[in-house]
Amino acid sequence: MHILAIESSCDDTAAAVLSGPDQVLANIISSQFDVHAPFGGIVPELASRAHIQAIWPVVDQALAEAKLTLADIDLIAATQGPGLVGSLLVGFTFAKGLAMVRDIPCVGVDHMAGHLLSPLLAENPPAFPYTALVVSGGNTSLFAVDDETTFVRIGRTRDDAAGEAFDKVAKLLGLGYPGGPAVSRKASQGDPEAFAFPRAWLEKGKKEQLTKNLDFSFSGLKTSVVNTVNQFRQKNMMVPVADICASFEAAVVDVLTRKTVLAADKNGHKRVVMGGGVACNQRLRREMARLCKEHGMELYIPEPIFCTDNAAMIGLAGLYQYKAGNTVGPDADAYSRSPLY
Ligand code: KG4
Repeated sequence: MHILAIESSCDDTAAAVLSGPDQVLANIISSQFDVHAPFGGIVPELASRAHIQAIWPVVDQALAEAKLTLADIDLIAATQGPGLVGSLLVGFTFAKGLAMVRDIPCVGVDHMAGHLLSPLLAENPPAFPYTALVVSGGNTSLFAVDDETTFVRIGRTRDDAAGEAFDKVAKLLGLGYPGGPAVSRKASQGDPEAFAFPRAWLEKGKKEQLTKNLDFSFSGLKTSVVNTVNQFRQKNMMVPVADICASFEAAVVDVLTRKTVLAADKNGHKRVVMGGGVACNQRLRREMARLCKEHGMELYIPEPIFCTDNAAMIGLAGLYQYKAGNTVGPDADAYSRSPLY
């Protein structure tokens, strides 16, 4: 079975062709980096327009790379939500239109399901069940994944997503957009213990220790970074950018890693999975690997191209949705919030 998958939930237009769950024939991503960089963040209206311009060329390129034509495609899968509705509508409507013209089934895929299953695209995929951390610019959530279509959310951020916090700190320090990689590069030259930025363990009276709570919060940390930077600026002192980045990154990684391992422990899982753009962060990968090993757990992280937004993971999740009998008709709508929440 040949699957054409489309992803347009945020600022990347992506198309992939799969010939089965572990056979990615093409995986094309067109980034809108240049469109949004001057604004220091994503402008939704510009994102929708850029998707409209990119969608046909990206699909054409994916089919060409897979050495197939539309006539060879048996199933179309597209991200239905969550995300920016104007962006989602471009890919999802395009997918429904193609499916209608070709008279083949179409599935609407939850973006989170894609991230949760993306480690299955690797050569050495994890067995079920596992605990998954999805950590990106829009999400920071923990899930128990029982099988290809059963996901239970067990923790989420109460305010900013971790990637959003990275992006905001980068903007504050004038490091550009997207902020995560820029902060991370600076962090590698700094001292992670230079500033004792707060870790939100989220339990009353137990500020300094890991608790049973599996939710996240990054707004207090962000405010603490803002206050620290302002103190230097008010005194006309040079801001120690590398040390601030390193200490901020260490605080984020500390909370993400410890809560993820705690969640796996609670679930009785010996396998941990991580996905989303922030999963590209080297310190996070290193520390998560160390902590998992310490707790006798196996860690599975997809290669970076499958961590960030991509259509291959949507094709994979779409194939399982199709097998479960979940197809969509022409009147199905995109959604901004995930029903998995
Ligand atoms: O999953 P993704 O590509 O897109 C969505 O959020 O939907 O994730 C993008 C996010 C951005 O916030 C970006 O700053 C962050 O992932 N990111 C990183 C790194 N690479 C990307 N954050 C920290 N360290 C990185 N190396």
